[in-house]
Amino acid sequence: MSGQKFLFSRRHFLGTSVAAAVGGVSTGLVGASVEAKQRPVPAIALEGLRPSGMVDEAYWWKVRSQFNIVDGLAFMNNGTQGPMPRVVLEKNERILREIAEDPTDNYRRDDINAVREKVAPFVGADPSEIALTRSTTEGMNIFAHGLDWREGDEVLMNSHEHGGGRGPYLTLMERKGIRINVIDLPSPPESTDQIVDLYEQAITSRTRAIMVSHITYVTGLMTPIKMLSEMAHRRGVLVSVDGAHPLGMIDLNFHEMGCDHYSAAGQKWLLAGGGTGVCYVKGDIQDQVWPLMGGPPREGATATRYESVGQHNLPSVLGMGDAVDLQETIGKRNIEERDRQLSTRLKEGLNEIPGVHLWTSSDRGLSAGLTLFSVHDIPMQNVVTALFDEFRVHIRTMGTGNLNGVRTSTHFYNMPHEVDRLLEGVRHIAANAGNYMTTSG
Ligand SMILES: Cc1ncc(COP(=O)(O)O)c(C=O)c1O
Repeated sequence: MSGQKFLFSRRHFLGTSVAAAVGGVSTGLVGASVEAKQRPVPAIALEGLRPSGMVDEAYWWKVRSQFNIVDGLAFMNNGTQGPMPRVVLEKNERILREIAEDPTDNYRRDDINAVREKVAPFVGADPSEIALTRSTTEGMNIFAHGLDWREGDEVLMNSHEHGGGRGPYLTLMERKGIRINVIDLPSPPESTDQIVDLYEQAITSRTRAIMVSHITYVTGLMTPIKMLSEMAHRRGVLVSVDGAHPLGMIDLNFHEMGCDHYSAAGQKWLLAGGGTGVCYVKGDIQDQVWPLMGGPPREGATATRYESVGQHNLPSVLGMGDAVDLQETIGKRNIEERDRQLSTRLKEGLNEIPGVHLWTSSDRGLSAGLTLFSVHDIPMQNVVTALFDEFRVHIRTMGTGNLNGVRTSTHFYNMPHEVDRLLEGVRHIAANAGNYMTTSG
């Protein structure tokens, strides 16, 4: 596809002495060869990861050493699914083994509740408002199908909503005759005020709820949930947030944000592995939201009413507690700042490359760890393939809205040299655009 190939060399990896300890060099692909496997590094106990001084590159290298990502791979797509850190992987393995060896207690309600007790302060909620789910989609369905909708009621959303949040409303449209009112937001919007105004203008006398992504999966647009909730509540409208991305990326506080419902993924930025999620239903609206499964809620029931799904997958649920522990140890603020530092480095670099169009705002209030861009009008799949084949950088395509974009996730386990390698790749692709226009070229 391209002329000049990228050559891997140690200079791309070895920035510090800690880097030398944890950063191997290999051109191998995932699972392709023994060489591609990361050299074993002893797991560091959580206390050893608590920042004691400067949160500098040496510190982040230490954090990076707690991941099993194969050498040489710059994995920048945890917006789809993140890599489990060792502490979570080890917990999953341990619980799986325990269940196999001693299956006398397969419910472990106390252990599950201990995870809930950890999650609640992590997201600024009360444990009675937290249901531990299997995915964002499950939590979005809990709210959507839990409300008593009447024919003609409306839900308001924008055109960049994910199918996980949109899906239940499409069903409700067919089953109950509700209406879905869809607005377009600019990519990127000018300000948080502009976003709130566009929603407010679209509210009608029949609008019951706004369903909105806190951070859209398309351009990474961050919605001002607090402002939006204040406006919506003034108009008597509930706010249901699709929070697949922000959990583990930014410092969340549901009570401060004021939304009525928030459904988050565990497998993405929290790095808790597949089959994990968190669903917040504000205490004072729980009686309006019926459980999706199971019997009617008992007197005094809390958000556990939304967990009647049968037995939990214990390794996943309990592992999520360790994912929270890891983030609390590093510090939620430190993680958010690191993610932003990396995405700023990326956006600033992209802005300097002729032919690159950035769809994501550089405004701190409108974006965080997800970045969407296009390179000339090169088909998005060609950009993704070239970055992987020639530069060992894994990102993903994003075709929603015909943006022909490629989406990058920058999370705290990524290192600045990985961002720079991505930029080097994009620079090369942009400068040799003709070579990348066709898949056969
Ligand atoms: C914005 C958004 N919502 C919902 C989902 C679905 O997430 P889950 O697989 O956790 O249900 C995704 C997945 O990528 C997403 O990006």
